Amino acid sequence: MGECFEPLSVRSLAAVLGLVDVSPDTLRRWFAQLAQGATNYERDPLNQATGDAASREIDERLTPCWSGSRASRTTARRDAGARARRRVDRVGADGRARPAEVLAQRPAELVRQAVDEGLRLVSPIGTQFREVKRPVTVAGVELEPGAPVSLVIASANRDERRFDNPDRFDMFRPRRQHAAFGFGRHFCSGHWFSRRQMEIGVAALFERLGRCGLRLDRDRPAVLAGWEFRAPRHLHVRWDRS
Ligand code: HEM
Repeated sequence: MGECFEPLSVRSLAAVLGLVDVSPDTLRRWFAQLAQGATNYERDPLNQATGDAASREIDERLTPCWSGSRASRTTARRDAGARARRRVDRVGADGRARPAEVLAQRPAELVRQAVDEGLRLVSPIGTQFREVKRPVTVAGVELEPGAPVSLVIASANRDERRFDNPDRFDMFRPRRQHAAFGFGRHFCSGHWFSRRQMEIGVAALFERLGRCGLRLDRDRPAVLAGWEFRAPRHLHVRWDRS
């Protein structure tokens, strides 16, 4: 995952933001350090300091991008977009056995619903962190103001009252809104970018390797890990020489 998908993720976002001169290693470090701050539920000052330091470093790099002339920003964005398209063309994601066969037949047509179903099933961000503002009782538990609360949206995305066979990957299930990008006023600002990033990557992968029988390696199954950020640590796949 670290070799293929993390570089895809950080480099395409950096390209779209115009951060083209930042090395992939720095981008991955920023991601890891920001995540350390964002998942600091235990309120450890060291974790917080790490996240804050990365945040400051990013601000220092980004500020010049916003302060250029409008024309130069437009040109930078256009160039960055072209670079991003070239880069995401080289890599991709996903690969469950039967869905992979189906997706391989019609990648362009099915990729949107495959990505959406993947988001529902895996919920890459599994929780939402909040602080209690007034005394409240939830499911018999009394919560006092100031108490930290972690809402498990990954669980909501598998609510059997909303989704039939919720633990099954079914890209043909009736489309119903899920919570993978949050709700309401905190709804994810990056959802359009993320969806397109995944759709382009997955479609490129299946257009190239789908006809070669791209499939999960049954001998080395993917193991999902992580709570706040959830993903497979490895995703071993096989394909046949055409
Ligand atoms: C698959 C990728 C992504 C997933 C699953 C995801 C998921 C989420 C979720 C669940 C929230 C709500 C958090 C909460 O309410 O506590 C959120 C918020 C947010 N996301 Fe994302 N996100 C993704 C990618 C991105 C990207 C690429 C960006 C930026 C380019 C981004 C920017 C944001 C921002 C700024 C917020 C906070 C919005 C607010 O509080 O007003 N996200 N995201």
